[in-house]
Amino acid sequence: METIRIPGIDTPVSRIGLGTWAIGGWMWGGTDDLASIETIRKALSSGINLIDTAPVYGFGHSEEVVGRALEGRRSQAVIATKVALEWPDGKPRRNASAARIRTEIEDSLRRLRTDHIDLYQVHWPDPSVPAEETAGELEKLRREGKILSIGVSNYDIDQMDAFRASAPLSVVQSPYNLFERAIDADVLPYARNSGLTVLAYGALCRGLLSGRMRADTSFSGDDLRQSDPKFRPPRYHQYLAAASALQRFAADRFGKSLLALAVRWILDQGPTVALWGARRPDQIVGLDAALGWQLSAQDRAAIDGLLAEHITDPVGPEFMAPPLKPSPTI
Ligand SMILES: NC(=O)c1ccc[n+]([C@@H]2O[C@H](COP(=O)([O-])OP(=O)(O)OC[C@H]3O[C@@H](n4cnc5c(N)ncnc54)[C@H](OP(=O)(O)O)[C@@H]3O)[C@@H](O)[C@H]2O)c1
Repeated sequence: METIRIPGIDTPVSRIGLGTWAIGGWMWGGTDDLASIETIRKALSSGINLIDTAPVYGFGHSEEVVGRALEGRRSQAVIATKVALEWPDGKPRRNASAARIRTEIEDSLRRLRTDHIDLYQVHWPDPSVPAEETAGELEKLRREGKILSIGVSNYDIDQMDAFRASAPLSVVQSPYNLFERAIDADVLPYARNSGLTVLAYGALCRGLLSGRMRADTSFSGDDLRQSDPKFRPPRYHQYLAAASALQRFAADRFGKSLLALAVRWILDQGPTVALWGARRPDQIVGLDAALGWQLSAQDRAAIDGLLAEHITDPVGPEFMAPPLKPSPTI
């Protein structure tokens, strides 16, 4: 496994992390806890030590399953969870106040069955709360030893500048994969220049880069891909065509799978970790194929050419952003 150092965390962190959003079930058409536990344990035995979760994933369920899976194995894992979303009526919205952070840390520690969280990340920026309040509270938690390192997620560079005035920041978690590259313009160079690690979420673009998707693939229950614009006409066929072209390129040029190419591409872009979402142990396959080789500048240019050729109407992951807190009405 390739590793990266994150300040505050003694253990080298694997550059492939397990994403456990789907393990929460919510927005992924349900989940099977025993399969989830096996998946987490298989990830650990395959060399992945970073497990990324969040309270909102299944409204506590993902964290609970991670806690169960890590019982007796806590020292093998680097737990990354998040803070600052609330769901008073079952619908998530942002709340990065100090009071909310104080409540959430205790809930997360209990669900995760641990006395500390390795990496604690603000899930979404909350413009209704001053940056120094949010950052200051996280810094207090760090000094108390409840968390070891601080991250933010879905922040732009101005928001990170404001945050870093009050707390040391180690990580920014952002959407990043072959099909979602907005951070190339700003967040990634900022991270490179500021010594931050980028946790690239949606490494497989919610499965579009797994090699499994077909024109007739369907999703059930509350699976978010039913409303994800990349999985809907008119764009779905563009993304599928791009995935097929990339799959051929990976096979012809390197003898690799699309999935291995997608992960390798992220790892070659900078100080990155690829967050790979999986919920069944059979999905933790081919890690080795993504490791120990590199894409050249020429390979990356060829990939860019294939993307431009097939994706004529690109769209980002903005549909996932949770709403802000409603303004108080008088
Ligand atoms: N900070 C944030 O706001 C934020 C937002 C999104 C995600 N994240 C984090 O990033 C993680 C990863 O993103 P993600 O879960 O959205 O999606 P992802 O990694 O892009 O894709 C995950 C999906 O790909 C499919 N897949 C995985 N391995 C596969 C394999 N070997 N073969 C075929 N299909 C495979 C699975 O779909 P099926 O099970 O349906 O087949 C899986 O649920 C999340 O779990 C979460 O930890 C963070």
